[in-house]
Amino acid sequence: MKNKTPIYFLIAALSALLLGVFFGLFASLQYIIPDFLKEYIPFHKMRPFHVTTVISWIILCATGSVYFFITEVEGFPLFSKKLAKTHFGIFMLTGIGIYISFLSGKMEGREYLAYTPILTIPILTGWLLFGINYFKTIRKNVHNWPVYYWMWGTGIICMIYHLSEAHFWLIPSFREHFIRDISVQWKSYGSFVGSWNMLVYGTAIFLMSKVKKDVLVARGKTVFFFYFLGLTNLMFGWAHHTYIIPTQPWIRYVAYGISMTEWIVLAHIIYSWITSLSAEDKKKYCMVYLFLKAADFWVFINIIVALLFSIPAINFFTHGTHITVAHSMGTTIGINTTILLASLFFIVQRVLPKAKISSVFLKRSYLVFNASLFLFFCALMYAGVKKSNWMYFTKELLFSEMQDNLYTTYIAFFIFGIGLVITIIIFAVTLIKALLKALKS
Ligand code: HEM
Repeated sequence: MKNKTPIYFLIAALSALLLGVFFGLFASLQYIIPDFLKEYIPFHKMRPFHVTTVISWIILCATGSVYFFITEVEGFPLFSKKLAKTHFGIFMLTGIGIYISFLSGKMEGREYLAYTPILTIPILTGWLLFGINYFKTIRKNVHNWPVYYWMWGTGIICMIYHLSEAHFWLIPSFREHFIRDISVQWKSYGSFVGSWNMLVYGTAIFLMSKVKKDVLVARGKTVFFFYFLGLTNLMFGWAHHTYIIPTQPWIRYVAYGISMTEWIVLAHIIYSWITSLSAEDKKKYCMVYLFLKAADFWVFINIIVALLFSIPAINFFTHGTHITVAHSMGTTIGINTTILLASLFFIVQRVLPKAKISSVFLKRSYLVFNASLFLFFCALMYAGVKKSNWMYFTKELLFSEMQDNLYTTYIAFFIFGIGLVITIIIFAVTLIKALLKALKS
């Protein structure tokens, strides 16, 4: 291989996935045994360790995939290999910095970005280098961009802006005004997720177009409508996160309508692709096909859940319960992770065309993965309903009594979590081994 940096990104992403699911497993064990590892990493630290590591999995894998696709699949010479290497180095060092910041208790950042805020500077620098490399490479080589180039480019630019915006609270004029502070905070989180979704959904469309060997999958009215919908959602989708803030109701309804439509269109694009794919391509790219099919299923499940809990009267009861966690993990595992695993299986097939990567064992693991995720998701929903019932309808029960009542549900959550972790280990180890082999070839 001429350029190994994309593979470094992908191996780092899979390592983050492995580490991240263990943090998640330990956090879920702390639901059952609150004293587990409490002295070293209590729940309030375990949670950011888990969330930051799995978000890094999504971002590193999407980034590595984009670098790989433009250089190895499209064959464009990268504007600067040095910049890409520096980007990788900066992200790795910052990752170490984030762990040190958590371990030493320097967690002055806000939720989801809890590390010490100074570390955002190298992260932004990394994104800037990625942006320069991406646009300089693409502009020189492509005219009449298919939709995925727009999506990746938009994702990079918006990530730089919204990651900065998530730190506006450091400016006193934002921090000192409560409503402004919380509005900007949640707006930036919604847009931050929207930015990585642009990278991930762009990857899904790229894969569909390459597997089918049909560039029309990435052109035409439907996919560009999807792109503009995604962009609008990225800008306004935050509003359905802010039911507690006194904003104009129409803003929330519009935002909510857009995010639901975006998912429906995505489900439609993937479904049309699935039904139009030849049996030969399904067989050739078996794991890619299966994981994109799983993403389609999880888009559908999440639409149902989001439709329900975005209704203000229902949202009032679900806010702050495990139903929100079910939604976040349902989307980041069910949609983002499945698309990224599809991407990795595609990449491995490109770098090692002779490798056997659609064995019966992997297909069975895929089934266990989906079944575990479904049950894991149901356990979280059930815990959420119980907690909501306790918060609003059961006056006399203490918090500790409610937690005791949920004990069996937490055990079920943990057991289904183990199923998820084992299957993720199987996929990640298979993929890491193949990527390491590709590095040597
Ligand atoms: C690819 C795999 C995973 C991803 C992408 C992921 C993602 C996330 C995200 C985004 C959150 C934040 C939820 C929120 O604030 O609403 C979260 C929380 C959490 N996750 Fe995961 N997760 C993964 C795997 C797991 C596994 C395998 C387990 C357990 C076996 C687990 C257990 C937890 C727990 C206990 C929390 C904290 C919930 C709370 O605040 O009470 N996760 N995860």
